[in-house]
Amino acid sequence: MSLLQLIYASDLSGSNESELSTILSASVRNNEKNGITGMLVYKNGRFLQVLEGKKENVLETYGRIGKDPRHQSIVLLLKDAIESRDFKDWSMGFKKLLDSDLENFPKYVKYFNTTLKDVDIAARPSIALEILKVFSTH
Ligand SMILES: Cc1cc2nc3c(=O)[nH]c(=O)nc-3n(C[C@H](O)[C@H](O)[C@H](O)COP(=O)(O)O)c2cc1C
Repeated sequence: MSLLQLIYASDLSGSNESELSTILSASVRNNEKNGITGMLVYKNGRFLQVLEGKKENVLETYGRIGKDPRHQSIVLLLKDAIESRDFKDWSMGFKKLLDSDLENFPKYVKYFNTTLKDVDIAARPSIALEILKVFSTH
């Protein structure tokens, strides 16, 4: 089966973190239905999300997410065909990072201190996948 893995970064619109739980519950509900798995990491108004599943389902979901006014400045970081899922246990895992979560990962700090699109994460999408994997297990 042809699977697609897609990673993007975006910024929360405004500063309404109270939307996070609503976003997450809709994500879990829809992703279960659509065979999508993945992980959403949030820190300081920044999102990093990976979506994986059947190509058409991932593209449909990403298209829907892209129109959501609760975030902005969406940057596509990676769109790759994959053989198997990296996040198969989560219809949408979620981690809200605190400063203390990054204490053991100093090299990731800069990705959350400046707008993600302004740093070299776009040029090094493997870092985005690494961050998502690290915090899906911590
Ligand atoms: C940062 C962010 C991540 C999101 N992730 C997902 C997701 O993984 N799956 C999903 O279906 N919707 C996701 N959404 C929500 C969609 O944009 C949209 O609001 C939702 O799918 C609509 O579903 P509903 O009609 O069932 O409420 C996300 C939204 C934001 C802002």
